[in-house]
Amino acid sequence: MLWVGTSWKMNGTLAWARDYAGRLREALADGAPEGVQPFVIPPATVLAAVHEVLGEDSPVLLGAQNAHWAEAGAWTGEISVGQAADAGAELIEIGHSERREFFAETDDTVNRKVRATLRQGLRPLLCVGEPGAVFDAGGSVDHVVGQVDAALAGVSDLSTILIAYEPIWAIGEHGREARAGDIAAVFAALASEYGERVAAILYGGSVNQRNAAETLAVPGVGGLFVGRSAWRVEGYLELLEIASGLVRA
Ligand code: PGA
Repeated sequence: MLWVGTSWKMNGTLAWARDYAGRLREALADGAPEGVQPFVIPPATVLAAVHEVLGEDSPVLLGAQNAHWAEAGAWTGEISVGQAADAGAELIEIGHSERREFFAETDDTVNRKVRATLRQGLRPLLCVGEPGAVFDAGGSVDHVVGQVDAALAGVSDLSTILIAYEPIWAIGEHGREARAGDIAAVFAALASEYGERVAAILYGGSVNQRNAAETLAVPGVGGLFVGRSAWRVEGYLELLEIASGLVRA
């Protein structure tokens, strides 16, 4: 089983989200492509609408891009895991590099959020990845394994957890596409440490329809976490098909 998902980041109006979800529902009316688990992580403002359009029996798992560790209270601007679940989320994205860099997310807050998500029966999608300078210095494995160790401290059952390895130097418009050789060592390390215990370990960062198959062929890669290349529903569907083709081959 390969996991293939997208976060829309801070993009999309209600109208845009409903249109995307409607076309996704239509395309997946007979179920997800064989061997693939799709997931979509919209902004919180459109989560409930996307959930409604996809419908209860959709093969697409929905997620939130962040959630607070507390169940409720005076945390202006935040949403709780329970609120995300109420709007249709089954998965919580935690620790994306943009949140670590710009919103003071630390290994400690990431760990609190992972534990809160599990406590409330949702699935954490834990994002980790090293900056370019660490990659250049050959420190990727230590950096990334350290982030995962910190995020999962005190957690004994990891079976529902997804890890997304997203090197910061590969993410976004100014990112450099990673080649298999750039990421193989991190996947080998994560797979040997966590491969048997977590649900899957995904790759993210400038994934597109051209490089997806090469990335999925790296040992230990259990799926893709995609930004820009899945913001058109046709692009996302193409990635689901590429992954399914590899599973069926
Ligand atoms: P990108 O984003 O695919 O647009 O590089 C990836 C991510 O941040 O998860």
